[in-house]
Amino acid sequence: MKFEDRVEAYLDRIEAVLEAALPGPQVKPRRLHEAMRYAVLGGGKRIRPLLVYATGEALGVSADMLDAPAAAIEMMHAFSLVHDDLPAMDDDDLRRGRATAHKAFDEATAILAADALQPLAFWSLANAPGLRDFPAEKIRIIDLLAEACGSNGMTGGQAIDMAAEGKKLDAAELEHMYRLKTGRLLRASVLSAAYCPPACAVEELHSLERFVDYMGLAFQIRDDILDIEGSTEEIGKQQGADLAHSKATYPALFGIDESRRRADELLNEALAALDELDYDTEGLRFLAHLIVLRRT
Ligand code: IPE
Ligand code: IPE
Ligand code: MG
Ligand code: MG
Ligand code: MG
Repeated sequence: MKFEDRVEAYLDRIEAVLEAALPGPQVKPRRLHEAMRYAVLGGGKRIRPLLVYATGEALGVSADMLDAPAAAIEMMHAFSLVHDDLPAMDDDDLRRGRATAHKAFDEATAILAADALQPLAFWSLANAPGLRDFPAEKIRIIDLLAEACGSNGMTGGQAIDMAAEGKKLDAAELEHMYRLKTGRLLRASVLSAAYCPPACAVEELHSLERFVDYMGLAFQIRDDILDIEGSTEEIGKQQGADLAHSKATYPALFGIDESRRRADELLNEALAALDELDYDTEGLRFLAHLIVLRRT
């Protein structure tokens, strides 16, 4: 069976893991918990959890060990989206085909829901049943996620993104921003699975790292292309939002053709990095193509 045929099962799996990890909607303070659930459940492509499971499959890691890293990374991602959409940041009203969290609730509740998702992600890792017997690996994954989200990771990238509005960046500056704001969480997805037992060799870790570094850039370039070429209905976000905010993006700075060329080039580099591995990386190859060819 191909990975593509297992995607549906993995999507059900991560939904159930997230559902179980989140406080119930009846638990007080109810509005806060409802907003956390709204931000996380019932939407999104779940690319990051799928990368966790696909990497785990390649390396022979049991799915039970991967549930907590997959859920923790998706919670961090959801937190980043809630803040990204706030009026003070990208000021978006639509996300995953419905109202953004601050529109469905209110700004204070959205900010607090995102605030609470962060510690919940770390708590879920710290208390992961699948990692109970592997304290050293668990700490390494917690360390990885903390770095991926901090000022040298996603949050730092978001700060550069905000400061770059209306500015001209060169390709290196733009790719640095993409590596941080988008690439680091994708990197954490692949490496968290690679840190689980049975740990792979250092050279193999480096190949996986190179693979996902290329894919992180390609993921954001595709996101930026879809902001221009996609439809609001397909992408579930307001089309043209980047242009409206004078965002520094690959297509805005270098044109759509060059963006497409760069995304294809990155895909090829990523696949070449996988060629160095002796593992069956069919799932990762499938996701790599999905990331560059997706329409949503
Ligand atoms: C959107 O991420 C934010 C970026 C980093 C570009 P996704 O495209 O993975 O969003 P969802 O989770 O599928 O909604
Ligand atoms: C988002 O980049 C990166 C994050 C870390 C959330 P964008 O601002 O382009 O993401 P979308 O297009 O709103 O999903
Ligand atoms: Mg943004
Ligand atoms: Mg945005
Ligand atoms: Mg975007």
